[in-house]
Amino acid sequence: MARIGCGLLHTFALLTLIFLTSVLHVLVHKDKNVSLAFSEEWRHSSDISHRSVQSQKNFSNNLNLSADPRTHTRDQCSLAVESRIDCGRDRSLSRADCEGRGCCYVPLPQSGFRGPPWCFYPVRYPGYQMGPMLPTERGQRAMLTRSAPSFLPRDIPTLQLDVMAESLGRLHLTLKDPATPRYEVPFVTSQSRGHKDTHNPLYDVDFQPDPFGFIVRRKSNGRVLLNTTIGPLLFADQYLQLSTSIASSLISGLGEHYTPITLDLNWSSVSLWNRDMAPHRSANLYGSHPFFLVQEGDGQAHGVFLLNSNAMEVLTQPAPALTWVTVGGILDFYIFLGPSPQSVIQQYHEVIGYPMMPPYWSLGFHLCRWGYTSTNITRTVVQLMRQTKIPLDVQWNDLDYADQRRVFTFDPQRFGDLPQMVEEFHQLGMKYVLILDPGISSMSPPGSYKPFDDGLKRGVFITNSTGQILIGKVWPGPTAFPDFTNPTTQDWWMDCIRVFHNIVPVDGLWIDMNEPSNFVQGSVDGCPDSDLEKPPYTPGVIGCQLNSGTLCMSAQQYLSSHYNLHNLYGLTEAIATHRALLKVKGTRPFVLSRSSFPGLGHFSAHWTGDVQSDWEQLRFSIPAVLLFGLYGVPLVGADVCGFGGDTTEELCVRWTQLGAFYPFMRNHNDKPNAPQEPYVFSQQAQDAMRTVITLRYSLLPFLYTLFHHAHTSASTVARSLFLEFPTDPNCQTIDRQFLWGSSLLISPVLEQGAVEVTAYLPLGTWYSLHNGQAYYSKGKYILFPAPLDTINIHVREGSIIPQQVPALTTTASRRNPFTLIVALSAENWAKGDLFWDDGESLDTFERGDYSYVLFFAEESYVVSKPVKLNKSLDRLVLGEVCVFGVQTRPTEVWANGQKVHDFSYSPDTKVLTVPGLDLPMTAMFTVQWS
Ligand SMILES: *[C@@H]1O[C@H](CO)[C@@H](O)[C@H](O)[C@H]1NC(C)=O
Ligand SMILES: *[C@@H]1O[C@H](CO)[C@@H](O)[C@H](O)[C@H]1NC(C)=O
Ligand SMILES: *[C@@H]1O[C@H](CO)[C@@H](O)[C@H](O)[C@H]1NC(C)=O
Ligand SMILES: *[C@@H]1O[C@H](CO)[C@@H](O)[C@H](O)[C@H]1NC(C)=O
Ligand SMILES: *[C@@H]1O[C@H](CO)[C@@H](O)[C@H](O)[C@H]1NC(C)=O
Ligand SMILES: *[C@@H]1O[C@H](CO)[C@@H](O)[C@H](O)[C@H]1NC(C)=O
Repeated sequence: MARIGCGLLHTFALLTLIFLTSVLHVLVHKDKNVSLAFSEEWRHSSDISHRSVQSQKNFSNNLNLSADPRTHTRDQCSLAVESRIDCGRDRSLSRADCEGRGCCYVPLPQSGFRGPPWCFYPVRYPGYQMGPMLPTERGQRAMLTRSAPSFLPRDIPTLQLDVMAESLGRLHLTLKDPATPRYEVPFVTSQSRGHKDTHNPLYDVDFQPDPFGFIVRRKSNGRVLLNTTIGPLLFADQYLQLSTSIASSLISGLGEHYTPITLDLNWSSVSLWNRDMAPHRSANLYGSHPFFLVQEGDGQAHGVFLLNSNAMEVLTQPAPALTWVTVGGILDFYIFLGPSPQSVIQQYHEVIGYPMMPPYWSLGFHLCRWGYTSTNITRTVVQLMRQTKIPLDVQWNDLDYADQRRVFTFDPQRFGDLPQMVEEFHQLGMKYVLILDPGISSMSPPGSYKPFDDGLKRGVFITNSTGQILIGKVWPGPTAFPDFTNPTTQDWWMDCIRVFHNIVPVDGLWIDMNEPSNFVQGSVDGCPDSDLEKPPYTPGVIGCQLNSGTLCMSAQQYLSSHYNLHNLYGLTEAIATHRALLKVKGTRPFVLSRSSFPGLGHFSAHWTGDVQSDWEQLRFSIPAVLLFGLYGVPLVGADVCGFGGDTTEELCVRWTQLGAFYPFMRNHNDKPNAPQEPYVFSQQAQDAMRTVITLRYSLLPFLYTLFHHAHTSASTVARSLFLEFPTDPNCQTIDRQFLWGSSLLISPVLEQGAVEVTAYLPLGTWYSLHNGQAYYSKGKYILFPAPLDTINIHVREGSIIPQQVPALTTTASRRNPFTLIVALSAENWAKGDLFWDDGESLDTFERGDYSYVLFFAEESYVVSKPVKLNKSLDRLVLGEVCVFGVQTRPTEVWANGQKVHDFSYSPDTKVLTVPGLDLPMTAMFTVQWS
């Protein structure tokens, strides 16, 4: 659930901007987002701009170079236009202001909102000077000092640089204040995963001592990956800035935004500030991921992670280059050298934590809407799904269940028999999840709402700057916000969950509204006037102020101010919820979080929030899902059929087809909209939906195995083509298709009315999953029929896909016979694997309580090799083998040496089908043909 954002404010800011630009000709040409920040500042605060002016005067007094712009040599200002680094990011500058900062002022013809700055840093703009580099236990250290103050308030005059070679492919570089400790992300990184060998790393680092900058090269080919000498390092209390060149224009990451798979470098910017905001262009959305991956163009890739949780803006320009601006913390960079894109992701996940292993049932189909207003209505939904024979594992309730919208309660009338309903679902082999918002109602009469009373006693809530509990407003009305950075809060949260779970045995929890979302700005008392609420520079965020739609920045948490911890709210809630479910249930927790930060995937799944039911949002859901794979949250999906607005039958069918290949598949709808459960549509639409959801259920053993690999080796589940085919230039920006692992290519219809799809097939043979038809591609687009009942799925040559006969729940399907799809390569081989366990116990891999089976095919046989067995595969059998690419009709087939009579071969598609097998999965088996 969400509410309307600050559309009006947005419009107002834009109008203000237009007014300003037309009146004040001296204004520097600006990016839209900055201008928003500017106009907001102009509207709200005179003291800040006053201070800026004053500090700028001090700056001109002190800095010789800037005193007279004519002292710039022609060279210093004659940068290529695309290489100009904006010197007026914090506010719009006149020529005098600009030159007062020692910057170059060279106007350009007006070209709309975006474009190169008129005021920019000259070459070698004075900054920090680096002292001698000294060895330390972990690497090298140097001190940096400023010769003169910058134009910013509260410069940090001395910085400590630490350079740490953490593994062959991982470089770690920090810049912090050695004198006064500053806020740092309280982050548990799994450093231990780094290989300690740092003898001959993949990188070289060079330093430019004055002004300070560094250059990171890929040693093997000398390619410059980062060059921060292109702009100054600024490091003031509330403004940290660093620019770098980038090695190519193919950069992916810096979420969460509504974007294609690669970022716009045409004088654009993205802001990282967690916000309850329905996905749309240019908006900062629910999560922050200050990580990006750069495809270097020759198949190699590297990644950069800035571990910083403050409000951040990243400006891009076509040089290509980018500039990080963050309003607090330290600069803590990790650089990952790959060299393959997939190894960049592994190196990144070594730092933030590998993804959790999801419970098997969570890979089934989930159904939810806001507006299932009673247990009986919820029951009816489940009944209708069963009547129409559409698989469903997990039924959900939105906030409808809660008594006066207060979490940890349920409505005594409409949901009076909620515990029985959950029991009934369990009897059907299904699971039940409900929503859990963090806001705790603070207005119930004392003694009537234990979560608040108890929380009050235990001091678990975030306080305002004067030390009283900060009260905001969310669904139940006035609410207090638990501070999950406080260990006491985590214990209280676990107690709340335990007490509730004892009555309503939920199987997982959906933590929504955890940016955290607040319907009043800051608090019901507003926010104090302070540098935290209105920093000297505010990144271009929706609502134009950091406290818009959330808590006051000056609010106090156990570890630091909300200003520093805001972006961690959802992550810390996810950690607390995961931990509580783990203790209370003792099985693998399922948590679904809207807000995110690096590390979330170790604890939680994610969905992409309040997407609209339209075709564009359907398309953009693919890059959104793929990017969360890069961010280490592989269990992700968009609300199938869209959340906001009425869906249409055609859109909902197409969305269900795509959604069947989201790693996390949930149909979820907003309260006022037309219903969109599969059974409300025509017979034809229902059939199409049933077909594809059933197909997903068949493929779950394969999907589960992919999750196992993500959990144990940080590979991706829903995978971009560029990760799998890094040297194919055609794959660099594809985000209308994607892969499951390395073997299934998904090419959905994303356009209204389309009944065919143009799909790219990378080099090799690809087989239609539906009928085994082979397509040989030299790496080209092929037109495929795609009538309403069809999504095109292709199996890559050389792979073996384990499947299972589907059923209406995973509880049932997990007992069914397995089948194998064997897609022979041109050289007549294929391989695959299966990870299997009980689907819900904790740490089965870590404890060795699982089965793992390899499959190989060669020439004319397929064989299994159980590498490890536990009892999870007992009584399970292989029921069918289907071999694609069998060139000549076999005359005989044997299974484990016994002749099989019932097999078929299609000379058109060259598919051999051997049904009716009954081979135990716990023993090696062979199926041969000749
Ligand atoms: C600027 O200079 C004035 C007068 O010299 C001084 O009062 C003020 O504190 C200075 N401001 C900064 C930010 O250094
Ligand atoms: C300013 O720079 C000029 C030319 O480089 C130099 O001669 C002069 O000493 C400098 N003044 C100060 C106050 O540093
Ligand atoms: C780094 O950037 C600076 C400024 O653009 C440029 O002069 C220098 O040649 C670059 N260094 C490398 C190694 O590319
Ligand atoms: C960059 O943006 C400007 C202004 O919106 C536009 O005129 C220009 O064509 C864009 N350039 C590219 C390469 O997309
Ligand atoms: C649900 O339906 C049953 C049977 O029709 C009825 O007895 C019961 O009162 C209903 N429960 C609620 C909460 O509406
Ligand atoms: C803190 O909360 C208390 C109680 O709601 C309120 O009276 C006080 O004004 C708040 N302080 C600030 C700085 O908003």
